[in-house]
Amino acid sequence: MNVGRLNSKLWSPTLATKCRRKDGAPGVVLMTALLLLAGCRQDMQNQPKLIPQRGSEMFADHRGARPQVLNTVARGQLREDSYFYTGVIQGANGYREEQNLMPFPVTLDVLKRGQERFNIYCTPCHSRVGNGLGAIVERGYKPAANLHDQVRLAQPLSHYFYVMTHGYGAMPDYSAQLTPEDRWAVAAYIRALQLSQAASTKDVPAGATVRSLKDLATETGHPEYASPWTLPTTAIQAYPPVAKEGTPALAPANPADPTIKVPTSKLPAGATQ
Ligand code: HEC
Repeated sequence: MNVGRLNSKLWSPTLATKCRRKDGAPGVVLMTALLLLAGCRQDMQNQPKLIPQRGSEMFADHRGARPQVLNTVARGQLREDSYFYTGVIQGANGYREEQNLMPFPVTLDVLKRGQERFNIYCTPCHSRVGNGLGAIVERGYKPAANLHDQVRLAQPLSHYFYVMTHGYGAMPDYSAQLTPEDRWAVAAYIRALQLSQAASTKDVPAGATVRSLKDLATETGHPEYASPWTLPTTAIQAYPPVAKEGTPALAPANPADPTIKVPTSKLPAGATQ
């Protein structure tokens, strides 16, 4: 390609012709053009603006990202309602105490949101009915707490929020996946789940038809759904605590629970239940 000609189209034809004639190096013309072009952009290149994650000459500390101004709170970061964000209230005795109350009213929408989040994030371990024998537990994870046993029924509502926020024993925390509002919605849904599993005909509005779970399960072709399920023998669940490392025992969340049948055949050598 004749760069000289190309340049002459872009720039002054006389300049291009002159250069070609003089030294016969059209590349020089291109170089000059590029330099000139770069020169033209100078003003736009050095704008007095901050680029994220880059330094800046404007401030004494040369940081583009500005630190938060002391003793100020950024918009949307004022966490005034500490119970909403922590699930605990500072008691008169100096301890932070869990409470059996919701920080905002529970509506049907809140429960629906809680059910949806519970089914996404909690059922892998706790199962949809909350008995603690989800699919992951069936494959060997420590049995998750049965949300219907006496221990769990007696816990204050904000304990569920606290567990989701900080994790509990073998359970990881869900603070990154669930906003504080969603964690409360899940906690409220756990209460609804507990009520649903212990419901009696008295809880049903007068006139409504009550059908047994067994009949419904048989009709849908899954009679096994009506009774508690047991873990397969391949699920390994119990390990002794390591006192030296301070790790808790990886034993069933509630060994007294009659619905949890812990198989003994596949326990690793030395493990106890
Ligand atoms: C990866 C599996 C897993 C998932 C997912 C999981 N959990 Fe758990 N959860 C456990 C295990 C295991 C325990 C028992 C902890 C222990 O004893 O070490 C437990 C215990 C609990 C307890 C009882 C705490 C106590 O004081 O006894 C609650 C409440 C609970 N989980 C709620 C939830 C909620 C709500 C979710 C969903 C946001 C959830 N879990 C998701 C595994 C899980």
